[in-house]
Amino acid sequence: MESGLRDFIQGLPKAELHLHLEGTLEPELMFTLAERNGVHLPYSDVEAARAAYDFKDLQSFLDLYYSACAALVTEQDFYDLTWDYVTKAAMANIKHVEPFFDPQTHTNRGIPFGIAIAGILRALEDADEMFGVSFRLIMCFLRDESLDSARHTLQTAHLYRSKIAGVGLDSAEVDFPPALFESIFQEAKEQGYRLVAHAGEEGPPSYIEDALDVLGVERIDHGVRCLEDPALVERLVRDRVPLTVCPLSNVRLRVVDKAQDHPLKRLMDAGLVVTVNSDDPAYFGGYLNENYLAMAEALDLTREDLTKLAKDSFAASFLPEDRKQALIAEVEAYGMKNAGS
Ligand code: ADE
Ligand code: ZN
Repeated sequence: MESGLRDFIQGLPKAELHLHLEGTLEPELMFTLAERNGVHLPYSDVEAARAAYDFKDLQSFLDLYYSACAALVTEQDFYDLTWDYVTKAAMANIKHVEPFFDPQTHTNRGIPFGIAIAGILRALEDADEMFGVSFRLIMCFLRDESLDSARHTLQTAHLYRSKIAGVGLDSAEVDFPPALFESIFQEAKEQGYRLVAHAGEEGPPSYIEDALDVLGVERIDHGVRCLEDPALVERLVRDRVPLTVCPLSNVRLRVVDKAQDHPLKRLMDAGLVVTVNSDDPAYFGGYLNENYLAMAEALDLTREDLTKLAKDSFAASFLPEDRKQALIAEVEAYGMKNAGS
């Protein structure tokens, strides 16, 4: 590995646009919270939990991820979860985050929406104030839950409308096509939410097309399977639709066999607006900088490539134009100053 690449990535200003807060629950915090709340976990200790993180596909991961959420009960729990992530983000030189949370994962267990969002927002606001890490919060609907449940979630969210920037769609993808949620996304759009959706992670390219045409999303989460459809790639390039790609997630969930097979560079070379993200870093072996580094090493990315990815992370964000341009200029200046080998 080129010496200094790790330092270059560390110093690169960047945004994270695809991050599930529930997926940042490290086993240590999981056990602390479970003990605090008298919740039983299906592992004897932290090592046993980590040892179970061997996934064969998205569903095998989701089963474990949802069961671990049982540890999250109080507002303080959601604060601690979010605070741990944003302090790590600040230390990794992340300037802006657009994290997801899954309200139904908590309301289905009897934890009120207001408890979860209050803890999350308090931590995000504290981090903005203390570290200058700005944020836009996105709430995701679980696509393997009913439309009624999503509708109820959207209604509840209305109380917090000014605090939630966007809505997304996540959980088990195959057999739950975007079109099932057309009416909910229509309603969310009318209420002024920004729209995103997971598509083309395990699901086919047609799910990406439907997310754009039927749901009207502005960004595709994952989207790596677009490469199977050249006409779709052409459209995504033409319309500058960003993809929030999650390399280590794709390796751990066996979307690709190994890092060297990851299509990130092919997506970039096709002219797509691509961003690198960590998805569920507590489960997939690395936070954002580790995702950049894994791709730099496996795909021989240059400093110019890494700078482009960081610039596009701000370009694809929901930041207002002035802060967006200021951060892009910061990345450009950093890239020029540290061009190196
Ligand atoms: N929820 C958390 N991580 C996810 C992923 N990678 N895909 C779909 N839903 C998720
Ligand atoms: Zn995701």
